Amino acid sequence: MLTPFVNEPFTNFQDENNRKAMKLALTKVKNSFGHTYPLYIGSEKIYTKTTTPSINPGKVSETIGYMSSANRELAEKAMQKALDTFETWKKVSPEERASYLFKAANLMRERKHEFSSLLVFEAGKNWAEADADTAEAIDFLEFYAREMIRLDRINETLPPTQIPTEKSQLRYIPLGVGIVIPPWNFPLAICVGMTSAAIVSGNTVLLKPASPTSIIAYQFVSLMKEVGLPPGVINFIPGNPNEIGDFLTAHPKTRFISFTGSKQVGLHINKLAANTAKNQIWIKRVIAEMGGKDGIIVDETADLDQAAQQIVASAFGFQGQKCSAGSRAILVDSIYDQVVSKILDLTKTFTIGLPEENHPIGPVIDQKAYDKILSYIEIGKQEGSLLLGGSTASGDGFYIQPTIFGEVDQEARIMQEEIFGPVLAITRATDWQEAIQIYNHTEYGLTGSFFSKDEHRIQQAQEQMHCGNLYINRKCTGALVGVHPFGGFNMSGTDSKAGGYDYLLLFTQAKSISRQI
Ligand code: SER
Repeated sequence: MLTPFVNEPFTNFQDENNRKAMKLALTKVKNSFGHTYPLYIGSEKIYTKTTTPSINPGKVSETIGYMSSANRELAEKAMQKALDTFETWKKVSPEERASYLFKAANLMRERKHEFSSLLVFEAGKNWAEADADTAEAIDFLEFYAREMIRLDRINETLPPTQIPTEKSQLRYIPLGVGIVIPPWNFPLAICVGMTSAAIVSGNTVLLKPASPTSIIAYQFVSLMKEVGLPPGVINFIPGNPNEIGDFLTAHPKTRFISFTGSKQVGLHINKLAANTAKNQIWIKRVIAEMGGKDGIIVDETADLDQAAQQIVASAFGFQGQKCSAGSRAILVDSIYDQVVSKILDLTKTFTIGLPEENHPIGPVIDQKAYDKILSYIEIGKQEGSLLLGGSTASGDGFYIQPTIFGEVDQEARIMQEEIFGPVLAITRATDWQEAIQIYNHTEYGLTGSFFSKDEHRIQQAQEQMHCGNLYINRKCTGALVGVHPFGGFNMSGTDSKAGGYDYLLLFTQAKSISRQI
C-alpha cells in the first residue's frame, strides 16, 4: 500500500550529531576528489580523451574531478541507444518504472549528507542550501513515482464519460526520446526532478548536465544504475553545449526537450525545436523553465521585521542564484526607510566565506557569473544609490559582497534584467496599489511575495500579481514539492509546474481507447 507523499524533512544543523555527520560526509567526499568520470551510453562507460575539470567555486585551486565530454558522434550513439531502449522501456509497467524511483529515494536518503557535501563543494552551497537541494531531489523521486501510479489508475479514479454502447478509457503513454538539460543552481534537485519525471513516464533520455556541476549529476546517474534501472534509459552525456546542444535539439528523433536555465538559451531552444528536420514526424515538445525578476512588496500594515528578514533570505540565499530569488523589493513610502534600515542591519551580519565552513554567503558559480554580476553592480551604481556591498569579497574563489541599491527606478536595468547574483534593488511605491503595478512591470512572472495584514489588499494581491508562485507574508524562494507546484508565466517559461499534479502530463500523450460493447 502506497503511503501518501510527505516532504523530506530538512536537517537541523543546530544539533551537534547532525553537524558531526555532515563534517564526516564532507571529509569523505573530499577524499574522493581527483577522479575522472565517464559518460554512460547504455551499459557502456565511456572515458573520453578530452575532459573538463570541475572546480570548487569557493576555492578555485581545488579540483573536484574531471568529467568526460561527449562530441557529436557520441551524442548520436547515445541517441541510437535511447531510441532502442525506448522500445522496451515503454512496455515496462508504470509500477515497475516507479519502483526504481522509490529505491533511489531510499538510497539517497541514506546518503543524504554525502550528496549534500558534493553540492557544497561543486556548487558552492552552504549546508542548509545543500541539504534543501538534496531533500528536494528525494521529494521529486517520491512525488513523481506516485504521480505515475496515479495516472496509470486514472480510469478507476476519474474515468472518461461512459456511453451505453462503448467502454472508454484513457491511457497516458510516453513520448519517446527526450533531451534533458538541467541547470547548475539546483544541480541535484532539478536534475533529478526533470530526469525522473521523464523516465517514470516511460521515455528514455539523453541527460546533458550543466558543466559546472556535472559530477553531482553523475552521482545521481550512478545511483539509478545501482538501483537497477535498465541501461539506456538514462544516457549521460556531459559535453560542450555548442558541440552537442543544438545538434540534439535539432535532431529529427528528438521528441521533447526539457530545459531549465536562462531565458536566452530557453528561447534559442524553443526556436530551434520549432524547425522540422527531414524525416521528423512530430512537433517537438519544449518544456522550458527560464528566469525571473521576482519581487517582494511590503505595505505599511505588514510585520516589518518579518518582511525584512524574508527579503534578505529571498535575495541572498545561495548568493541570489535562484530563478526564484527576490531581486526586487518594492516598499511603500511610509515604511520605506524603516524596512531598508532593517534589511541593511540583517545583511551586515552575514559572513562571507568557504561553503564547507558553512558561511551564510559563499561564492558565485564561476568566472562568467562573477564577471556578469560585477558588471551589473557597476550598472546599478549609475542607476540607484549603493547602500551596501558593491564589490568583490576576499577569498580564493568567486566571492561577491551582498549588494543593495536603494531608490531604484522601476525602469532601471537592475529592476528589469535577471542578474542571478547577490544584488537587491529596492524601490519606493506611493502605496500598495502602485507597488503591485511596479511588481507586474516585468517581462517575467515567476515568484512574488506580498507582505500585509490587510485582508482586502491580500485578496487584491492574489488577483493582480501576475506570477506562477505567489506567497503571502513569506519569502519567495524555497518552493516545496507538492506544496508549491513551481513554474512561472510569460518569459519565465512554458507554464510547467514542477512538483505538481500536471507535470507528468508534459512527458506523456493521452491515448483514448473506446471499444464497442
Ligand atoms: N524551486 C526553487 C525555489 O523555489 C527555485 O528553483 O526557490
